[in-house]
Amino acid sequence: MKGNIAIDGPAGAGKSTVARQVAKRLGYLYIDTGAMYRALTWKALKSNVKVTDEAALAELARRTSFEFREASPGELAVFCDGEDVSRFIRSAEVSRLVSRVAAWPKVREEMVRLQRKLAAGGKVVMDGRDIGTCVLPEARYKFFLTASLEERARRRWQELVAQGDNVPLEKVKQEIEERDRRDCQRVVAPLRPAPDAVIIDTSDLTPEEVIEYIIKVVREDRYGG
Ligand code: DC
Repeated sequence: MKGNIAIDGPAGAGKSTVARQVAKRLGYLYIDTGAMYRALTWKALKSNVKVTDEAALAELARRTSFEFREASPGELAVFCDGEDVSRFIRSAEVSRLVSRVAAWPKVREEMVRLQRKLAAGGKVVMDGRDIGTCVLPEARYKFFLTASLEERARRRWQELVAQGDNVPLEKVKQEIEERDRRDCQRVVAPLRPAPDAVIIDTSDLTPEEVIEYIIKVVREDRYGG
């Protein structure tokens, strides 16, 4: 899997903005693994599968096809059984429940198998929580983006306000904190940097600065590509 780029970190650290742009500029494929867990959570809600039922969730993951396709030029969207679900998977309900779905070992087994398949051809930028530690431990480049809880909450809150959702900042902060706790404390593949990851604190950096830094690291590695 030479040449793959793993970008991990907590919610609101800027992973998806950065990963998407890095992929675009390097001509790599961008895979948002959080969107896969979100799509499964959305499908579970739709199919009346409980987020407490590990076996049923894993079975649902096995039966579901997840794909990333170009919905508009240059923009990849997640398709679940052929349906573009991008607009459903960011809902408050999915956001609230997804870390519970993602904590189940059997669910992760299915998702990791799929994610490895998607990355098998190389030249993929994959973002998530366990990409450098578990999904692609042999990825050539590993980055771990982080930022203070306050800054991450503020970014997420700004996004929601821009979408017309007048949720209080404090509530967003509590939800992110809760999700961080679940993602970091779960038994299987908890959120943590790989020992060989480059850690970037994005609190005081613009997305452009982070993107340029990552591209510089990748381009300066004469063995990479
Ligand atoms: O990055 P995001 O907020 O869209 O991720 C949604 C949830 O999925 C989050 O609670 C963590 C989980 N997740 C995970 O456990 N492993 C991944 N590789 C990606 C996301």
